Amino acid sequence: MVLFQRKILLAVTGGIAAYKALELLRLFKKQGADVRVVMTKSATAFVQPLAFQALSGHAVHFELLDTEAENAMGHIELARWADVFVIAPATANTLAKCAHGLADDLVSTLYLAVTCPVYFAPAMNHVMWHHGATQANLKRLQTHGINFIAPESGEQACGEIGVGRMAEPETICQRLISDLTAPQGLANLNVMITAGATREPLDPVRYLTNRSSGKMGYALASAAQQAGANVTLISGVTHIQSPKHCHFVQVETAEQMHAAVFSNLENCDIFIGTAAVVDYRPVICADEKIKKNAEHITFTLQKNPDILADVAACENAPFTVGFSAETHNLENYALEKLAKKKLNMIAANWVGRDEGGFERDENALEIFWQHGRKTLAMAKKSELAAQLIALITERFNDAKKMHG
Ligand SMILES: Cc1cc2nc3c(=O)[nH]c(=O)nc-3n(C[C@H](O)[C@H](O)[C@H](O)COP(=O)(O)O)c2cc1C
Repeated sequence: MVLFQRKILLAVTGGIAAYKALELLRLFKKQGADVRVVMTKSATAFVQPLAFQALSGHAVHFELLDTEAENAMGHIELARWADVFVIAPATANTLAKCAHGLADDLVSTLYLAVTCPVYFAPAMNHVMWHHGATQANLKRLQTHGINFIAPESGEQACGEIGVGRMAEPETICQRLISDLTAPQGLANLNVMITAGATREPLDPVRYLTNRSSGKMGYALASAAQQAGANVTLISGVTHIQSPKHCHFVQVETAEQMHAAVFSNLENCDIFIGTAAVVDYRPVICADEKIKKNAEHITFTLQKNPDILADVAACENAPFTVGFSAETHNLENYALEKLAKKKLNMIAANWVGRDEGGFERDENALEIFWQHGRKTLAMAKKSELAAQLIALITERFNDAKKMHG
């Protein structure tokens, strides 16, 4: 009964795998979950709502504009009620609607209205799965911070062989169990993370910045939350949706980031500086757009505050973890930064190579601390983040034992 009293909102959409959602519902119930089912109109052509009603013990919702349903448990109440929203099977059509924020039926409206973690278990013919439109929609959905349970390969309902079969109900149920019952190694601890690049204005329309996308920092914020931490995320401007339920502070410049970090630092247990803070800012930001008249133009730059070093040097400093992005001499630079800034740990990664680094969805890390090191192999940033949070938890607990 590891999902005891978890409130699972299960959305069933119109694919042949809709019948497998009955088994999924049964498994959730077996684990003690309270499950409510919503269906798209197409899904009701594949499986009768009555079957879901009988298994869940609750009325099934499929209409958005239904006065009776809105009187009982309307879409906003359903969204508020859910601890987790699972769309299984997720059709190409529903994936596309959610990716683009359309809300013309109950399932897509709920997708926009929920604040809980969302899981998609896509299912479709392999040609539909590989279509550029579907793949682009999946990429877009990833920027919303949702979870995918990948479809499997094999013989499909249409008789063809390929990727697109919905993951088995057992796999989906196990994934939820392992995610929702992740080790809570950071329970009740305050973790602050900086993410993304800062922007240093030259004039009202131009700025100095770098290629950091913020993906690693946001992935770490989610992983720390999953480990039970109270997370403060201080972020430069990114294109990523901020994680739900964390204290989120948006900044633009290095000086703003420095101020935001220090005004939230009290009671911070662990500080992770993933932000790619621009090292130098223009001394003068022109009031008006600089015109293209001169053949050459010179800007004087001034060093920005070193947020990481200042955090590590402050009184009652938190356990401080830095990031280092290098194009060469990775180990030497990382070790130098670890010692010079008096950090507890540093995570170094290569940038400017074919794989990993800025803007990519994958990365690899070399982690160093005073008497040790560990390599985290190339993996999706979300997986890497979970591994790094586990390692930080271990080192943080060791440091606490040593220093009381
Ligand atoms: C027999 C049959 C099986 C289908 N299976 C799938 C499927 O597995 N995946 C999918 O994306 N669409 C499938 N479709 C197409 C969807 O039902 C269709 O795109 C529909 O508009 C989806 O609506 P919904 O996303 O609102 O449920 C199937 C259609 C039929 C007639």
